Amino acid sequence: MNASACAKIILVGEHAVVYGVPAIAVPLSSVRAYVTVHLATAFAITAEANAGFLLTLQDDHPFVQLACGLASAVNAPVPPVELRIQSDIPVASGLGSGAAIATALARALLNHWQASLPQEALNALIYQSETYYHGTPSGVDNTVIVYEKPVYFRRGHPIRILTNFRPFTLVVANTGIAAPTREAVSDVRRLYEADRERLTRTFEQIAALVDQSLAALQTGDAPTLGRLFNRNHELLRELTVSCPELDQLVARALATGALGAKLSGGGRGGNMIALTSPDRALAVEAALRDAGAVWTNVVEVKP
Ligand code: PMV
Repeated sequence: MNASACAKIILVGEHAVVYGVPAIAVPLSSVRAYVTVHLATAFAITAEANAGFLLTLQDDHPFVQLACGLASAVNAPVPPVELRIQSDIPVASGLGSGAAIATALARALLNHWQASLPQEALNALIYQSETYYHGTPSGVDNTVIVYEKPVYFRRGHPIRILTNFRPFTLVVANTGIAAPTREAVSDVRRLYEADRERLTRTFEQIAALVDQSLAALQTGDAPTLGRLFNRNHELLRELTVSCPELDQLVARALATGALGAKLSGGGRGGNMIALTSPDRALAVEAALRDAGAVWTNVVEVKP
């Protein structure tokens, strides 16, 4: 039995989204985490790529807590099965690997029970498991991954699925630097505590550019969306969550004709995204590889 979940990309609004600013995020459906279910004598979670990875019911781990939470949600005992993870999503890189694996695990267990949960309930359980790594995540990652739809996400507001925008092309490139989101998020928190007025102004600027990005998406105005990506990257640099390798990939993408480029996700490493016309995508991808990207992906984003 097989289950899977997609990776995700934040287009605009990361970090500020933790403070109530909206963010726009899209699924990356071609890059996924998979879980297969195997009969066993006791419950276990293993990872194909990491033969030493073994979690049992005794472990205090968010994936185990998730299995227990699901069991009580469907009124069934945790079954004696091995859940085997295989993931194509680079870890600690801003693509939502943790939330995707959690979602695939949950779907595999639900399939095993031949049970289903409303998406809101599944989303709440995945959010819960995210808090273990991220402290107080905004919820954008789990939402875009569970619904596997482009979303305009604002903390504490109903989820808005974006159904009405023109397709566009992104190149995603990974610096190869694993960067824990939790640290970047707590550094931004320290900056905020030290100078609330300045940071509030930065968040307001990001909020405005997220709404302008939504309008640009809806009218298919890629040049404007590109400029908004560049502006968002500058503001993320001010929040200290970029790094020289991300800045270098952004600069290289722009020099190769991308319409805009920015880091995506927690930053300090991980991934950047470049908006390109479809005919420039392969050239931008090759340039990013040449500039040191260890993993790249070209994606056409559609409603
Ligand atoms: O690095 P990722 O993919 O987990 O993205 C984190 C996004 C942040 O806005 C930095 C944090 C959050 O909880 O939304």
